[in-house]
Amino acid sequence: MKLRHVFLLAFFSVAAFPAAAEVTFSADVAPIVFQRCTGCHRPGEAAPFSLMSYDDVAKRGKLVAAVTASRIMPPWQAEPASYAYKDSRRLSDQELATIQEWVKEGMPKGDLDKLPALPNFPDGWQLGPPDLVVKMPKGFHVPAEGPDIYRYIRVPLNLPEEKWVQAIDLRPSSRKVVHHVLYFADDTEGAQKIEAEEEASTANHASMRFTRGMTALGGVAVGAQPHLLPGGLALKLPKNTDLMFQYHFHPTGKEETEQSTIGLYFAKKAPEHTLTGIQLPVSYGFFSGVSIAPGEKDYRIRDSFVLPVDVQAISVGAHAHYIGKVMKMTATFPDGSVKTLLDIKNWDFAWQDRYFFEEPILLPKGTRLDSEVSWDNSDSNPKNPSRPPIQVQWGEQTKDEMGAVSLQVYPASEANLMKLRSTYQGHVRETARERIRKDPTMMAKIREIMGN
Ligand code: HEC
Repeated sequence: MKLRHVFLLAFFSVAAFPAAAEVTFSADVAPIVFQRCTGCHRPGEAAPFSLMSYDDVAKRGKLVAAVTASRIMPPWQAEPASYAYKDSRRLSDQELATIQEWVKEGMPKGDLDKLPALPNFPDGWQLGPPDLVVKMPKGFHVPAEGPDIYRYIRVPLNLPEEKWVQAIDLRPSSRKVVHHVLYFADDTEGAQKIEAEEEASTANHASMRFTRGMTALGGVAVGAQPHLLPGGLALKLPKNTDLMFQYHFHPTGKEETEQSTIGLYFAKKAPEHTLTGIQLPVSYGFFSGVSIAPGEKDYRIRDSFVLPVDVQAISVGAHAHYIGKVMKMTATFPDGSVKTLLDIKNWDFAWQDRYFFEEPILLPKGTRLDSEVSWDNSDSNPKNPSRPPIQVQWGEQTKDEMGAVSLQVYPASEANLMKLRSTYQGHVRETARERIRKDPTMMAKIREIMGN
């Protein structure tokens, strides 16, 4: 390089990036906070305080630096994987560095007259008018204080014909107490049974229930935007089913009554492809003999499944209770290359998101899916509900555990649906058989869980 060029380069570098460029709220931090935080941190939303002005953010500067550095905020548990996720809330390394630098430098205001405008947050139904609007039949009372409450609430539908659901938008009446909600469809009889049990029970924790007619319809965590399933895909809502919502309520210091309004968006016609789930380990690890000794820091279970046909994967999600830690799924392609579909290093029960891929991912026949779930049952795990830690078994209560990663897919060719489903069911049966061979008391447990 000629000397003149070196000189020019040096000159431009200095001009474009003055050595001590000051990171200011107005120019650098406000655009990040308004886009990444204010959606939840504003009046009427779920976060406990607003982040809408210099003072709001500066008042909690140290805490903001800490929760962003540890990636507790914005809530988004998935590490970057081999494929991009839609609407990722994760801060880029650059955004994170800017916040850290600003707090370290004493949080300079900059020119507050040049502050960017707050975004226009959508009000009302975000996907337009729904095809059907239903409401919780009665309000649910959330006390001012106490532990979080998990509750199934039934919303009767009385649909005369089957429908195809493309999106559900749930609008809480007291947004602050609703942390997240999982959606299910269940046949009316099964749903009524669960409702009666819930109303009779005083326990504040309900988790997965295995009723035969239940189908998962997704869910929403605070601050999440409702999405229409891509490519005309939709989930079947059989006739004579009710909606079952599993609510996670979070007391806020003030008594509240929650009565949500729910908007359903139906596809005009049945989709060309049928969505199905591949959950590994199967049945949330029920057949894995989960038994975690107190103090055990890294108890792991694994499961694998080889795809019998080409599939398109559209989303991935995980479920565990409080002491779940690592949730991982990889795909090993027939050519040997390995891709990561989900990588959660520090599971947090509070944020049960599903992660949608930017584009459907083609996983060819012969691809092996491997999943891994781990738990930390030591007393150095701040999320451990048992102090001191106790022996933890598979089960539905807070002190019990379960865990799995599930991939939402459709067969690339609809003609292969039965083959995909029956091969997966075969894997479930084989896993169950193996377990019963090892542990003959398992049959009784299965009967108990299936409720007959
Ligand atoms: C999806 C909604 C959402 C987004 C986006 C979000 N927050 Fe939060 N934030 C919450 C909720 C809800 C809480 C209350 C904690 C809880 O209930 O788990 C919270 C709590 C906090 C706290 C208090 C933590 C503590 O330990 O007391 C800070 C600080 C915070 N958020 C900062 C941020 C910052 C900075 C951003 C953006 C970079 C952000 N949040 C983005 C929902 C959100």
